[in-house]
Amino acid sequence: MKKYIVFIAGSILCSVVLPAQTLKGRIKVDIERTTGTIDSLLYGNFTEHLGRCIYGGIYDPASSQADQYGFRKDVLQASKELNTSILRWPGGNFVSGYNWMDGIGPAANRPRKKELAWNTIETNQVGTDEFLRYAERMGAQPYIPVNLGTGTLDDARNWVEYCNSDTGTYYANLRAKNGRIAPYKVKYWSLGNEMDGWWQMGAKNADDYGKYALEAAKLMKWVDPSIKLTVCGLSTWSSGTPDWNRTVLSHLKGYADYIALHYYFGDRTNNYLEYMASMQEPEKEIKQTEAIINEVRFKHRIDKPIYIAFDEYNVWYRTGVEEKLEEKYNLQDALAIATFLNTLIRNAHIVKMANIAQLVNVIAPMMITDDKLWKQTIYYPLQLFASHCYGESVNTFVQSDTFNTQRSKGIPYLDVSCTYQQEKQALVINVVNRHPSQAIETTIESQFGTLAKKATAYEVNGSHLKEENSVTQQKVKTVERSFDAGGKQFTYTFPPHSFTQLVLSVK
Ligand code: AHR
Repeated sequence: MKKYIVFIAGSILCSVVLPAQTLKGRIKVDIERTTGTIDSLLYGNFTEHLGRCIYGGIYDPASSQADQYGFRKDVLQASKELNTSILRWPGGNFVSGYNWMDGIGPAANRPRKKELAWNTIETNQVGTDEFLRYAERMGAQPYIPVNLGTGTLDDARNWVEYCNSDTGTYYANLRAKNGRIAPYKVKYWSLGNEMDGWWQMGAKNADDYGKYALEAAKLMKWVDPSIKLTVCGLSTWSSGTPDWNRTVLSHLKGYADYIALHYYFGDRTNNYLEYMASMQEPEKEIKQTEAIINEVRFKHRIDKPIYIAFDEYNVWYRTGVEEKLEEKYNLQDALAIATFLNTLIRNAHIVKMANIAQLVNVIAPMMITDDKLWKQTIYYPLQLFASHCYGESVNTFVQSDTFNTQRSKGIPYLDVSCTYQQEKQALVINVVNRHPSQAIETTIESQFGTLAKKATAYEVNGSHLKEENSVTQQKVKTVERSFDAGGKQFTYTFPPHSFTQLVLSVK
């Protein structure tokens, strides 16, 4: 609402409150203008031996929710409802000191060890077999980073043999002895974690890492040529190493299938619009990385594609190790996640994998309090994207008012992505209205095909930007409603501080 002073015949008569003017926007979509196929691996997750993610999160034999294997049924169910396509494990920083052999065989015989990444004790009760069987029950592809910090080349190749080879050799036979005859066929592996970071056990400079990762990659692919490998790219906290990505890709050449980027963001200056404006950064990083990929492929005549895997991303700025990274999310964080997912969709031609960090309790979309599972605000946009955004990414034309912040200028209030799935004739338009107080009345035009009248809108919103959920209340969640689209054009009003997903059908 705005206050207007009313002047009549030169004198102030009264002041009245009028509704704020509705802002206008335009979105044009043409389903023939596709820009890249969306890989379902964009809807991945991550479980690290850190805080209450594994122990007290996915695995808790003492819980009333534990299944016969000691894993929580409610977490598994909520992960399935997120359509989790790929699950990264065991770290993160943890993996750079992890000996996978500690986590196999009879649980009672496994060593308790000092864990240096997070300064704790690792009991090794969850190891390779427990994790891989869990991923199977979830219906997710497992994704394993090997230890290139303190680990050896033998550790890396033997782990691939343990997981993927037919019986008849030492490590495959060991797997059979531990109760699993058929190989797990783990397709996705990565060559260490954040090896550019001083905080990493066994951190390396770009040349040292590139050479070591190449040797590990060769041996791993020689054990199983069908695996896909991710090489460590720059992580969020890295500084002063702009050539890292170019150098490591040049060493790995054809052995890299993906380069990993890690991205953590947040309201670091307690300024909502600055926070929303900072969400333009990931798109810049994608473009820069894509340029380097193209340069290296051209220079070294690499025919096969190399893609980007955001194998860690999330809002993370409030908590540290003392708080066990148990970040509590609010509405503005849900909008940031929706914007990040829009970015992935817009760049679906090059970003082919993403893993939100992490699944439960630790910087996570779901939490456990007093043995009860509840969903954080960020769960809902994730779930909507993973439920509906498949097929092709569609180019969109977007017009809306813009805002300026101290650091950025001309940021549109509307952030949009669009997908089209031919088989279902389903057109999905994802819209974040970042305006903190005003709705945006938007004309949506379909430039190809006619829209069916019956359509569905899913909205994630709350009464104010800092609204949070808790074990007792889900204040920020998805609200579903039907609306009439129809024809070539319709108008939809996006409420302030909202994420809306419009699911339409094209005739
Ligand atoms: O996800 C938490 C930590 O963040 C991971 O262990 C590490 O890879 C990153 O720095």
